[in-house]
Amino acid sequence: MGNEESSMVDESAHPSVLEARTVQAVAKYIKEHNVNKIVLMVGAGISTSAGIPDFRSPDTGLYANLAFLDLEEPEDVFDISFFRENPKPFYALARELYPGRYRPTIAHCFVKLLHNKGLLLKHFTQNIDCLERQAGVPGDKIIEAHGSFATQRCIECKTPFPDNEMQKKVQAGEVPYCNDPQCNGLVKPDIVFFGEPLPSSFHDSRDLPGQADLCIVMGTSLSVQPFASLPQLCSPGVPRVLINMERIGGLGSRPDDVLLLGDCDAGVRKFAKAMGWEEELEALWEETNPDPQAREAENAPLPTRDERLREEVTRLTSDVDRTLQLTNAYEQRVRDHLGEPKSSQTVTMSSSSEGTESSEGLAHVFPHLAPESRQ
Ligand code: OAD
Repeated sequence: MGNEESSMVDESAHPSVLEARTVQAVAKYIKEHNVNKIVLMVGAGISTSAGIPDFRSPDTGLYANLAFLDLEEPEDVFDISFFRENPKPFYALARELYPGRYRPTIAHCFVKLLHNKGLLLKHFTQNIDCLERQAGVPGDKIIEAHGSFATQRCIECKTPFPDNEMQKKVQAGEVPYCNDPQCNGLVKPDIVFFGEPLPSSFHDSRDLPGQADLCIVMGTSLSVQPFASLPQLCSPGVPRVLINMERIGGLGSRPDDVLLLGDCDAGVRKFAKAMGWEEELEALWEETNPDPQAREAENAPLPTRDERLREEVTRLTSDVDRTLQLTNAYEQRVRDHLGEPKSSQTVTMSSSSEGTESSEGLAHVFPHLAPESRQ
């Protein structure tokens, strides 16, 4: 964590290359200086609007929501020594995060747009969700510094494990083991866990930030080294734009740093507007959405703690409803048998019955189950 620039933030410093420390001035710089070697450095914040939580946001981040995995330290879920001992928490999480459920965000499409314009030198990502690939950014433009779910192998003999088998295992919530019965080692996606080296592609590309004529950092807390040091490798005088909820990693300390604090999608839209690319950006994003209705269902975000609790209450309530229905049906059968009319006290609790006061089931006990709160 941390880096040498983090304590020196001087927003008032006069820019040396840009006309002003604004996105409009960055757009002017791109057009007038023939900029075509843009390097991006991104993290989980560019995928949150797709429904994938980031890691460290206080309430919504993954690390704050892993209580259900019963870990001593939330980071253990990505720790290689812990994985060897107990791979189940990782696979419980993998089931939620596995690619295929999420649509690229407008921020991913902005990277694709930079590529289409011939301006992208390299996209460094810490994300494992493969959404930049899904947005159409070619593989050779992407450095997946922390690996991804795209491939997997045995952690002992390193034999690759077939994609289709992996997908089935992950979706079934099962831990995959090496197909070689002599080995039977654990299989792990080629995600870089704490305690593992970064891929050689990362080290081979570390000189690229130094060649960049513009750097864009988006959606990352820059907490994890060595990735966190990449922005410092940009040459002095090269503008660096930070698009993030919060100021991080010393960005803002150089005179040509520009801060666009706030949501990534809103930030890239501002950037595109300054370039005159708004419509192209929206069109690219729409291309990732061929079937809006199916997508809406697929993109259902991971449930929050409250939602999980509500689901559990709903399940329990419907069990109680079912039991009460059976009891009522039994009572009515007994009354029919005795020739008595239907009791005015009998309330059909089933939430599927319509048009009666009773249709709200146990909503009087759990008000959030009332029809208007079920939308
Ligand atoms: P973090 O969760 O550490 O940081 C995400 C950053 O994005 C934070 O600064 C958020 O404020 C910001 N953010 C979140 N949503 C945003 C939005 N919609 N718009 C703008 N900013 C937003 O995630 P990373 O920096 O990616 O490692 O974490 C780095 C590494 O730590 C990950 O790759 C992972 C983790 O341990 C491994 O899996 C090995």
